[in-house]
Amino acid sequence: MKKTFYITTPIYYPSGNLHIGNSYTTVLCDTLNRYKALKGYDTRYLTGMDEHGQKVETVAKERGLSPQEHVDNIAEDTKELWNLLDIEYDDFIRTTEPRHEQVIERIFEHLKSTGDIYKGHYEGYYCIHDESFFTETQLEEGHICPDCGRETKLLKEESYFLRLSKYEDWLLKFIEENPDFITPKSRKNEVVSFIKGGLDDLSVSRTSFDWGVPVKSDPKHVIYVWIDALSNYISSLGYESNDASLFDKYWYGDEVLHVVGKDILRFHAIYWPIILKALGLPIPFKLYAHGWYMMKDGKMSKSKGQVVYPEPIIERYGLDTLRYFLLKELPHSGDGLFTPEDFVDRINYDLANDFGNLLNRTISMINKYFECPLKKPKKTFFDYDNQLTETITETIKEYETYMDHQKVSKAIQSVWSLISRTNKYIDETTPWILAKQKKERDTLESVLYHLVESLRHIGILLSPILVNGADKLFDQLGIKQSLQTWDSLEFGKPITIDVTNNPEPLFPRLDKEKEVDYLANRTNKRQEKKQPKPTQPENLIEFDDFLKVEMVVGEVKECKEHPDADKLLISQIDTGDRVRQIVSGIKDHYTKEYLPGKKLIVVKNIKPIKLRGVKSEGMILAGKNKKTLEILEVDHLNPGDKIS
Ligand code: MSP
Repeated sequence: MKKTFYITTPIYYPSGNLHIGNSYTTVLCDTLNRYKALKGYDTRYLTGMDEHGQKVETVAKERGLSPQEHVDNIAEDTKELWNLLDIEYDDFIRTTEPRHEQVIERIFEHLKSTGDIYKGHYEGYYCIHDESFFTETQLEEGHICPDCGRETKLLKEESYFLRLSKYEDWLLKFIEENPDFITPKSRKNEVVSFIKGGLDDLSVSRTSFDWGVPVKSDPKHVIYVWIDALSNYISSLGYESNDASLFDKYWYGDEVLHVVGKDILRFHAIYWPIILKALGLPIPFKLYAHGWYMMKDGKMSKSKGQVVYPEPIIERYGLDTLRYFLLKELPHSGDGLFTPEDFVDRINYDLANDFGNLLNRTISMINKYFECPLKKPKKTFFDYDNQLTETITETIKEYETYMDHQKVSKAIQSVWSLISRTNKYIDETTPWILAKQKKERDTLESVLYHLVESLRHIGILLSPILVNGADKLFDQLGIKQSLQTWDSLEFGKPITIDVTNNPEPLFPRLDKEKEVDYLANRTNKRQEKKQPKPTQPENLIEFDDFLKVEMVVGEVKECKEHPDADKLLISQIDTGDRVRQIVSGIKDHYTKEYLPGKKLIVVKNIKPIKLRGVKSEGMILAGKNKKTLEILEVDHLNPGDKIS
């Protein structure tokens, strides 16, 4: 049986400004997930949105939307961004979904029934931005939030509390007994000293706003957003639902990894294990807390325009450049810096020069000196051959250790050492000189084979990172699928090699000055989406008006092109009562051969008109967006069946 691996990102607040910082977490998890899949694990990747809380309620109001409209809108944008970044998630949970809300309700009631949650009064300070409680002594002067520097609000309200204090000793012991529970070590030490400072019971309900899950037995309280949010990691697996098979498989499986930013470690390292313990559930997960992407002048800040969005970067330089930069430049246990200059340098030096050129040179030399296919060498010709294969073996080992410990930047560096070693091998073996001597044909063939083999290994190791580049590399080198797998990481697997005749550079070199200017001035704006219409929709029609439109299923009998119009097709369509002729502007998207036999939806009581001289007695329904047009087809209905 395959081992299981369950990885999660934090669920994002719907604040509508997912920049390269938040994208980093999602790309990192995607890379780790692809790596585990490559190694043969049964993987599951969860991401999603944290859609309740006072902040969301406030932001929606500012946008003139209901909270639900606001979060629906942002969830769509977020999914679009993850698609653009080619994130292969298995589930996208939203805390406003019934499948999640039901579970939270039950968790809260359960903890209330065991006495782990009890009712009391809260008096203290609250930061709406961080959805976080503070005591007066934790605040900075002027009641300022110590985490984000915003003003906090004094709260005095009836509240439910979670007994954190009861679990303090247990948690310290748990962390001590599970030394890898939190990485990196420096962050673990922060958590331990925080716990040692004493855990106060946590206020876990609010009465002063509505946008949350109500406490079932006391609905004037809504459940604190962090209790709500953390439980997404199990609600999405079907915990406490009719079908808990995913929960059983992954939560009780082999590896569970929560990846979080340093700012939200405390919630995950303290509240979450305590909730699970109080529920009588195991704590199978490891926590990795990464640092932040910063700008030259400090933190990313949307309001100061000091922020970088992924979309304009991907549009101009392609996805892999951004994935590479993000994964390479954030060290395992510190912060990283995004600067336009570094970004261009990384593309030019690492991707275009070291890596892209190696591939390009190799293919060009093969085409120049040999008729493909190349054969696997029968013996070694140089000491360099063994040195290269040894470096390949060492790189695989190093890469694996780093990836298993979420040290992706280090894993990339070891692949780049192999790239450098391979470039050096070209200088050492001088294929252009070998090519001049007839007696060195076998030596030359062996050198070129070594180069391709090294590149094949590099491609496999980079496939979780450069998701397009690795495919292109395999394509250009003619590596078949069975030799792109983790199990095929062994020198000498291909018997023959057949590369493309037309190699294309994977990463073109950039003009530094021009691109630094672009990056500095054009990537801090996202194309603002049109806001959805506010709650009061316009152009309402009466239900009776809708009933006036007679829609039925029609089956296309014949179809031909309009003699005088480029975009029109003329179809004969059986609508149950008779066959009618309908002219439609769909020729850019459908051929006249496709339509006969298809069952579509026809508006049959529209007044007949002539289109470029040809009579049309109805309309067929189709949907369209900027890229495509699609007619609505049905399968099981028959001509004349009513649509309403
Ligand atoms: N909703 C909570 C998480 C709940 S998880 C049960 C939240 N959301 S968030 O949208 O504010 O942040 C999501 C993640 O983005 C956090 O892990 C945070 O650390 C990360 N980042 C935000 N800015 C970042 C950078 N500049 N760089 C790297 N990561 C950054 O917190």
